[in-house]
Amino acid sequence: MKFVIRLPYFAFEYVELCYNALRTHEVEEPSVLSPLDFLFGLFSLDIGVDLGTAYTLVYVRGKGIVINEPSFVAIDRKTRAPIEVGARAKEMWSKNPKDILIVRPLRDGVISEYEITARMLDYLIKKAHEQSWVPVPRPRVVVGIPSGVTEVEKRAVIEATLDAGAREAHLIEEPVAAAIGANLPVLETRGSMVVDIGGGTTEVALFSLGGIVISRSIRVAGDEMDEDIVQHLRNKHNLLIGEPTAEKAKIDIGSAYPLPQERTYMVKGRNLTTGLPDSVEVSSIEIREAIGGSVNIIIDTVKDALDDTPPELVADLMESGITIAGGAGQLRGLGDRLREEVNIRSWLADDAMTCVARGAGRVLEDYNNLRRLLTGPERGSTRH
Ligand SMILES: Nc1ncnc2c1ncn2[C@@H]1O[C@H](COP(=O)(O)OP(=O)(O)OP(=O)(O)O)[C@@H](O)[C@H]1O
Ligand SMILES: [Mg+2]
Repeated sequence: MKFVIRLPYFAFEYVELCYNALRTHEVEEPSVLSPLDFLFGLFSLDIGVDLGTAYTLVYVRGKGIVINEPSFVAIDRKTRAPIEVGARAKEMWSKNPKDILIVRPLRDGVISEYEITARMLDYLIKKAHEQSWVPVPRPRVVVGIPSGVTEVEKRAVIEATLDAGAREAHLIEEPVAAAIGANLPVLETRGSMVVDIGGGTTEVALFSLGGIVISRSIRVAGDEMDEDIVQHLRNKHNLLIGEPTAEKAKIDIGSAYPLPQERTYMVKGRNLTTGLPDSVEVSSIEIREAIGGSVNIIIDTVKDALDDTPPELVADLMESGITIAGGAGQLRGLGDRLREEVNIRSWLADDAMTCVARGAGRVLEDYNNLRRLLTGPERGSTRH
């Protein structure tokens, strides 16, 4: 008689995870590490979260990006209870449902609705954790937040992260995480610069001597470009379109620099005179002009930061160049445009949209060296 013992797949995953944890876990600061912390540390996950105004991403060490969802929450208009989070809430947004309010809790780079942000964070961290088979649901989490959020908002994000089951919660400002995720030498003396262009905010940061030397943050980024396109279609073509349609046009044919081959795109919307469905063909030149004002503001912000940069660091940048990160950093020709305007090589980081989440996660991998780049009311909190 033959017996076959079948182990469920997750048992293998679990054994592998424990092995990896034992192999790689470094005990930092043994003096402050409780035995409980140490035990949890062996079996729980390290998570980096990019709490972006457009997208929230979750990076898990050893697994990569496990969640990439729009920062949208659908809530019941009467009870204000959340109904959907992420992609499904964004889908509802384009349908304009009557009894449901679609909230973008971080719109414009500030946590305008932090109760709802907390719900969203809770949902996404739990969802990331559900994807692992570790029975101790106590991850260490670093959350990337827009720079300039208030102490109250920081506290709210930490609370939400701990409520979601985190063993430790730390905060890092987006441009810092973006620079780490883009592999910039943030701990070195020589200067390096990141321009992170997201949905709600553009952040420029110059690093040297292990910290930020100069930074700029403006509320002009990808969302503003979408609004520019909505306005352009309304004013020039008498066509009413929604932001999701404008975003598609921007991603499809938007640019900051003349394209080798200019293109056209069919935009569908509602004719403002007849009230009937209508469509208009727009060219990439037209879209470039429509978003030109926003692109100029972003370029001027980089110029402004460079104006204040000490000459020896400018020399470093001329050697190492400027790194562009963030979803809207992927706008065609932005690197070429920036190079032309500031006379410094500029290029898009690899996997530009995930830099912040990966950078946040990397802090936990090299905690002793990178922890000084964290921010927050108490540079992180723990809960037992
Ligand atoms: N290929 C592309 N070309 C141009 N824009 C793009 C492209 N892909 C995504 N975007 C834009 O990137 C923006 C989202 O970027 P990202 O996910 O980095 O923002 P975020 O981190 O959520 O926002 P923030 O950093 O402002 O908090 C959106 O405006 C989206 O339309
Ligand atoms: Mg961002």
